[in-house]
Amino acid sequence: MTTAVEIVDLEKAFDPSGLVGELRRVVGRPTTPVAALRRVTLHVARGEIYGVVGSNGSGKSTLARIVATLLTPDAGRARVFGHDVERKSAEIRRMLNRVSVDASFFKKLSPLENLVFSARLYDLPPSTAEPRVREILQRLGISGAPLNRPVEQMSRGMQQKVAVARAFLTAPVLLVLDEPTTGLDPASKRDVQAFIQEVRDSHDATVLLMSHDMDEIARLCDRMAVLDDGRIVAQGTPASLAAPGETLEDAFIRLTGHALGDTTNRRTERAEPAGVGETRP
Ligand SMILES: Nc1ncnc2c1ncn2[C@@H]1O[C@H](COP(=O)(O)OP(=O)(O)OP(=O)(O)O)[C@@H](O)[C@H]1O
Ligand SMILES: [Mg+2]
Repeated sequence: MTTAVEIVDLEKAFDPSGLVGELRRVVGRPTTPVAALRRVTLHVARGEIYGVVGSNGSGKSTLARIVATLLTPDAGRARVFGHDVERKSAEIRRMLNRVSVDASFFKKLSPLENLVFSARLYDLPPSTAEPRVREILQRLGISGAPLNRPVEQMSRGMQQKVAVARAFLTAPVLLVLDEPTTGLDPASKRDVQAFIQEVRDSHDATVLLMSHDMDEIARLCDRMAVLDDGRIVAQGTPASLAAPGETLEDAFIRLTGHALGDTTNRRTERAEPAGVGETRP
């Protein structure tokens, strides 16, 4: 069995002021780092759909960004198909694609133009890319006039679908999906979920899926982890995490001491950074 993602004792903390370097020294605002990931260890096998479920601020996006080489860990290690995220980021970026709610596009260009452009960055010639882009968008329910309308005129849900389409365009070996269906209506959600499953089954892709949607996790994932305040509190198959007679939601409450989405008893605050250094969605 090949390991697609290997994460061992991963740690990441943020300065809640969002200030870095000289600015931080000059301003001198006293801050205590916020731990976003605490000794996180998990292994994802090749071909698996692995889910990470957690409330707002539990550390899902931080984990997704470290795996996608957009953030560096403070301690521990993260490897993608044996490549270390810090030392081999270029290799990893060639095999991986990420979907997140902060996807950016050329807003004046259409979905078709945006995706054909993205395909060129991956050396796909427009003649090959365009039919593929049309096919993927069609499968996600975007066809006809919206294909050629500027992205800025599309609803947020539609834009999210274009972001999903872009991630699948290059048939990546590893897909890191950070809440790919948040903001989608139920029918669109199902389109995207069916597509994720299909890509895994037909393209031998591995999927790391961050979500707060228990139904989505239960439906799609072979295995999952529950992340709470930066710590993994349970891992296993969705069926193994729930005790007899318990739903996955019940199991989540038992494991974390709070309902999914209820962050009132959490210690850490969601600090908005001041736009210096790493930006977050
Ligand atoms: N760039 C940053 N600067 C400061 N703090 C940050 C930064 N990024 C994340 N954090 C903090 O790290 C913790 C984990 O955040 P993260 O975005 O990973 O959570 P999440 O599980 O993705 O939440 P959500 O469900 O809302 O997307 C939070 O306390 C958050 O405020
Ligand atoms: Mg997030």
